Amino acid sequence: MTRYLITGAAGMLGRDLQAALDGRDVTALARANLDITDLDAVRSAVADHDAIINAAAYTKVDDAETHEDEAHAVNATGAQNLAIAAAEVGARFVQVSTDYVFHGNATAPYSEDSSLDPISAYGRTKADGEQLARQAYPDGTYVVRGAWLYGEHGPNFAKTMLRLAASHETVSVVTDQLGQPTWTGDLARQIVRLLDADAPAGAYHGTNSGQASWFDFTKAIFENAGLDPERVLPTDSTQFVRPAPWPAYWVLGYDAWESAGLEPMRDWNAALRAAFDDGVFAS
Ligand SMILES: NC(=O)c1ccc[n+]([C@@H]2O[C@H](COP(=O)([O-])OP(=O)(O)OC[C@H]3O[C@@H](n4cnc5c(N)ncnc54)[C@H](OP(=O)(O)O)[C@@H]3O)[C@@H](O)[C@H]2O)c1
Repeated sequence: MTRYLITGAAGMLGRDLQAALDGRDVTALARANLDITDLDAVRSAVADHDAIINAAAYTKVDDAETHEDEAHAVNATGAQNLAIAAAEVGARFVQVSTDYVFHGNATAPYSEDSSLDPISAYGRTKADGEQLARQAYPDGTYVVRGAWLYGEHGPNFAKTMLRLAASHETVSVVTDQLGQPTWTGDLARQIVRLLDADAPAGAYHGTNSGQASWFDFTKAIFENAGLDPERVLPTDSTQFVRPAPWPAYWVLGYDAWESAGLEPMRDWNAALRAAFDDGVFAS
């Protein structure tokens, strides 16, 4: 029977991974139990496991602009440590990555092997993590890139919009950034499918399909919550300048799933509806 290890297990995706692996032999380690920047500790934790899923990351995108070394230690060195330890015991290794590794100025979906060209500090650290992990363990590393994640167990954009809806008559949201809103529940189940299928090592895009602007996504959130979507007003990125630069186009393609004989993840609208039905936004 496969023995799984989840790192960063207390995070938003980590919690949904635990649910997706319910009933299997799983060790779930939160940061307090395993700091992935510590190679010795990583080696001890990885021993006796067959599949390692790294959901640990430094995810404060704006803070990473001024704390890149700290972010690099977790997102790059941490990923490398896990890949080294997984290679030593022959366990498969899933490194969760992000759309931020790409530039974001494309006009057609990024393929799994598009060149990495991050424009933010966070993106640089995650791109280094992908590369270091794949160099350390080319035959056993899966890079699964998520994007625009929302889920029950963490702060995220969708929850913020619902909170704002409770106190503001209208919310203004940008129309000029396109991506793929993705439910961590779906991403967690897709990672499990990937491992179950014994798919070839390499990069995969773990996003719900289709594409949306933040404006489209917010309107859909309002609709699903029974709120009037006309309360969502369009604006553009010049009104929301943030420390980390935000690209305009971050849609990811799905050739690798098909080559591995797996279905890509469902459409983002269907996933959002399912997340509401599942009670993700109930509290
Ligand atoms: N959220 C998004 O929109 C998004 C989009 C694309 C990809 N991703 C990727 O998806 C993955 C999961 O993200 P998430 O949204 O679930 O993030 P999250 O909720 O912030 O979870 C990350 C977890 O990693 C832990 N962690 C931080 N440093 C650690 C260390 N040195 N050792 C062990 N654990 C450590 C954090 O613990 P503390 O809270 O105690 O620091 C936290 O529990 C990450 O790889 C992220 O880059 C996220």
